[in-house]
Amino acid sequence: MVTLELDRVEARYGRKVIYQEATTPVVRGGELTALVGPNAAGKSTLFRRIAGQLAGAGTVRITGASAADLRYMPQDTGMNAALSVYESVILAMKQGKVGWRLAAGELAAVDTILDRLNIAALAERQLAELSGGQRQLVSIAQTLVSRPKLVLMDEPTSALDLYRQYEVLEVLRAYVAETGAIVMLALHDLNQVMRVCTTTIAVADGQVVAAGPTLEVLNPVLIRRLYGVVSRIETCSRGCPMMIVDGAPQGNA
Ligand SMILES: Nc1ncnc2c1ncn2[C@@H]1O[C@H](COP(=O)(O)OP(=O)(O)OP(=O)(O)O)[C@@H](O)[C@H]1O
Ligand SMILES: [Mg+2]
Repeated sequence: MVTLELDRVEARYGRKVIYQEATTPVVRGGELTALVGPNAAGKSTLFRRIAGQLAGAGTVRITGASAADLRYMPQDTGMNAALSVYESVILAMKQGKVGWRLAAGELAAVDTILDRLNIAALAERQLAELSGGQRQLVSIAQTLVSRPKLVLMDEPTSALDLYRQYEVLEVLRAYVAETGAIVMLALHDLNQVMRVCTTTIAVADGQVVAAGPTLEVLNPVLIRRLYGVVSRIETCSRGCPMMIVDGAPQGNA
């Protein structure tokens, strides 16, 4: 079992402190975890801190996996390299490994992830010639190809159309069920979060303000605190919870 826990974690850019003491309950592998919060709340910063790209006091406690098992997909994935999609996914698989020799299983892993994400037809295309959504799908393939046990994805569906969002979230749901990995996703669409993420961590103003089962965390009181909007959670005709935004509270437009 892979677990991740933050214990009084500080994160800062130089002297600018974003988190003083971020603490979370233990996040367990095998389920999707959402990281939610308003713009500039500190979601990307928390991911960078967990990924070891930012300094600070406190402990990022990982069990059942090592730092080499962690893959972090940033919010803005630069793709300037003159590589084909296939080459770039091979390169991502070799990250952190010694030597360039490819085992047959590794090539099969590249084919499998391109198939799963429905982008096998792009394999020979140059990265520079892809659309924004296609680039995002390739980033997801690069992130998952080595079957990492700990995955941090910063808004992985932000450039995708409605169907592709659905498809990617289903791929991620299947991935955690198959591998027992931790996959933590920063997402803004709270209806998607309620549909696929069993656990949610909410951050605001450099603090973890709530963490636990998604349907307990995402209640109208917290949503008003995070986003300043009045909302309702209603059950749709098929029994799924849906969030509806009614507007801003009076006097707080
Ligand atoms: N490189 C940086 N140097 C200094 N401050 C930064 C840097 N990157 C982000 N910040 C600041 O840190 C705070 C948190 O930013 P962060 O990018 O973590 O927010 P976020 O929750 O990911 O927001 P969004 O939903 O817009 O992606 C913001 O006030 C931001 O201006
Ligand atoms: Mg961000």
